[in-house]
Amino acid sequence: MGWNNILLEKEDNLAVMTINRPKVLNALNGETLRELDEAVEQIAADDEVRVVIITGAGEKAFVAGADIAFMQTLTPLEARQFSRLGQKVFSKIENLPQPVIAAINGFALGGGCELAMACDIRIASENAKLGQPEVNLGIIAGFGGTQRLPRLVNPGLAKEILFTADMYDAEAAHRIGLVNHVVPAAELMNFCKNMARRIAARGPIAVRLSKEAVNEGLEMDLEKAIAHEADLFAVAFATEDRNEGISAFLAKKKPEFKNK
Ligand code: HXC
Repeated sequence: MGWNNILLEKEDNLAVMTINRPKVLNALNGETLRELDEAVEQIAADDEVRVVIITGAGEKAFVAGADIAFMQTLTPLEARQFSRLGQKVFSKIENLPQPVIAAINGFALGGGCELAMACDIRIASENAKLGQPEVNLGIIAGFGGTQRLPRLVNPGLAKEILFTADMYDAEAAHRIGLVNHVVPAAELMNFCKNMARRIAARGPIAVRLSKEAVNEGLEMDLEKAIAHEADLFAVAFATEDRNEGISAFLAKKKPEFKNK
């Protein structure tokens, strides 16, 4: 491994990935994004990992955005490369076979909010603050925020968030559907791990297929999307786990899924 800015810990079937630059509120520079990319590749290839949690080091921030000091010197061409790098890494996170939970433990601003939006499920601590403050800096969201935000909340609200640079506290973010749950800071990791373990106990291939059905279906029209769902439903019937799941139910037993 030998990463400077990312911690990756495995706990049973869970992987916890921590953005670890607390002195700058876990701001994302080029090196951090490249390390994140490697960590994501590692997780994608690891069949033991059934659920991923992404969080930020320290008590103050998830990720306070792209590193502003790093961006100060970028030429337009380098800015485009930086944007494309972040977009590529965040898309990899979005398309990881395993579900990804963002444990938002404080500021999730700019690139931090964009990272959280690339995750499947967002859980915020009570002290979390979310927003897209880029226009305050005379720039725009460039890690997918202008696209994922209007897909997640309604387009009018997304535009308000992008145009005003307002910060939303956890409750407000919950009200608009930007986060699924708000929990006390001290309980955040337990809450996320608890949910992750519940997911990890389900049929792992079925969970992956569910993620694929939602992600790919959202890019299709409804007729094609439901046809795709039927194909994925058929794929589930090619697994040993569906025999196990259905037989266990009928025998009134707990299923023991093998990820096969
Ligand atoms: C670099 C950052 C940073 C960032 C905080 N720091 N955010 N450094 N990039 N995004 C640094 C501060 O400079 C400071 O360093 C230390 O972290 C602690 O932050 P403070 O500002 O002292 O803390 P506080 O007063 O509590 O304010 C917290 C804050 C504020 C509200 C989150 O730090 C802030 O507004 N940060 C910037 C948020 C932002 O604009 N994010 C969007 C970036 S643009 P020192 O050395 O002074 O201790 C973006 C674009 C994405 O994300 C797309 C790119 C293609």
